[in-house]
Amino acid sequence: MASILEVNSVSKRFGGVVALEEVTLSVPERGIVGLIGPNGSGKTTLFNVVTGFHVPDKGEVWFRNQGGMERIDGLNPNEVFAKGIVRTFQVPRLFKNLTVLENLLVTPWNQLGERPLAALRRGWEREERELARRAIELLRRFDLLPYANTRVSELSAAHIKLVETVRGLMTPARLYLLDEPAAGVEAGVAHRLFSLVRELREREGLTFFIVEHRIEILTRYVDYLYVLHNGKLLAEGKPEEVISDPRVVEAYIGGG
Ligand SMILES: Nc1ncnc2c1ncn2[C@@H]1O[C@H](COP(=O)(O)OP(=O)(O)OP(=O)(O)O)[C@@H](O)[C@H]1O
Ligand SMILES: [Mg+2]
Repeated sequence: MASILEVNSVSKRFGGVVALEEVTLSVPERGIVGLIGPNGSGKTTLFNVVTGFHVPDKGEVWFRNQGGMERIDGLNPNEVFAKGIVRTFQVPRLFKNLTVLENLLVTPWNQLGERPLAALRRGWEREERELARRAIELLRRFDLLPYANTRVSELSAAHIKLVETVRGLMTPARLYLLDEPAAGVEAGVAHRLFSLVRELREREGLTFFIVEHRIEILTRYVDYLYVLHNGKLLAEGKPEEVISDPRVVEAYIGGG
């Protein structure tokens, strides 16, 4: 399968810290690819580079559009988003004083769509109803419906994490980058989350690139797995092969 995302020899340092060193990887279209690694190994930094929050010191990032691969490193986050890449944040970025449902309805997509004339032509009421329908459907799947009208400030950390992921899934995109969607989330709900990811891939042809510490759960859902260690790619391959690779075991036991 052709790749939708290619990261070529990307390096990124912060002062004396080498967060990424010569990282090369790719995500195939309609793939579900995992990215694991001990704390501080560079996973979030890689997502930040792909989504325009950081400019790499070296290397390139390419994303597939209709015409072929297009270079996207150096674009700002809004430009990357407009290309069709949505990411969620390890530390959720929600409006704490808004309710869960309100947070889902104020998606960036909705804001982009607020061009009055275009909205009138399309019939904004229908569009709003469609958004609300999608929000309620997603909330139901995560057992979050009872919290639809609860302010985010009153939710547990696990629920906030789930709402952050649901908010990402509200936005139409071709590639979703999820940063630790299952952190703190009950195992049963985490499995449902990843099952939904599989379903979205089958039904809507979406692609996912997922950072996750819950390796025992993640490996059951991804087609391919990359491991970062001290900013370098340590291993890659089929999940069952990668997690039994002695170097990977050592990296985790060694505590990074
Ligand atoms: N904005 C920044 N400024 C300075 N240092 C940073 C910045 N972002 C990340 N780092 C450093 O880069 C390294 C990689 O961090 P990163 O957040 O990418 O790791 P991670 O793999 O996502 O870790 P975790 O599993 O804990 O989320 C760490 O040493 C971190 O302290
Ligand atoms: Mg991180």
